[in-house]
Amino acid sequence: MMTQDELKQLVAKAAVQEILTLLPPQSLIGMGTGSTVNFLIDELHAHASYFEGVVSSSDTTTQRLQDRGFKVLDANQVKSLPLYIDGADEIDPHGNMIKGGGGALTREKIVASLADQFICICDATKLVSVLGLFPLPVEVIPMASAQIKRFLESIGGHVELRKAKSDLNQNFVTDNQAWILDVKGLTIDKPLALETQLNQLPGVICNGIFAVQSADTLLVPLNDNVQTIHFRTDKNN
Ligand code: A5P
Repeated sequence: MMTQDELKQLVAKAAVQEILTLLPPQSLIGMGTGSTVNFLIDELHAHASYFEGVVSSSDTTTQRLQDRGFKVLDANQVKSLPLYIDGADEIDPHGNMIKGGGGALTREKIVASLADQFICICDATKLVSVLGLFPLPVEVIPMASAQIKRFLESIGGHVELRKAKSDLNQNFVTDNQAWILDVKGLTIDKPLALETQLNQLPGVICNGIFAVQSADTLLVPLNDNVQTIHFRTDKNN
């Protein structure tokens, strides 16, 4: 039986093959954030010069890419990307995801929105029939946090302001100098509708539902073999 890290490494190796097959040399690529992506960056290291540049979704990913010889480009330097690749905290049968467990949701969504296609890489523990067991991250402007918390509670959420891992007396602060509300208890059976609704609240910077930017393709190890799942383009949200 493989460990979760071995499964992440397995899917990362498969992702390298997929990327090199899909993209011609000197392509641009968008890179997500998280432990699965960290394995991918390490596996892709030998091919760093294959890419004209990488648009990164977090300071952590940028640092890892630069340490391994990739050229990192600012999102404002590119008009579009052929591919964005990232992990997920949950993914449903239509390719809708919850992301942001690591706190990088806003930049992840920005880079994903620049891309023609989104490939999700994860292990099978992330597969769900309905999103919502994993707490939904909502990144907020600090002065709006109480107001947004009340709204999230009014729709049935149990809301916690995320604390810094290193010091539980401090709030977690994102790369954008904002806070994150983690929302438990939501059954997200209409992800596109909820994503859109939350985006309307003043002070919400971004929410962790990726339905507008849902995955086009999923690479996931099942029975120690990496399966490739293509979602329908007329996805049912
Ligand atoms: C980061 O903010 C998240 O969206 C990650 O993409 C997600 O949490 C997956 O991370 P792991 O690969 O570490 O599970």
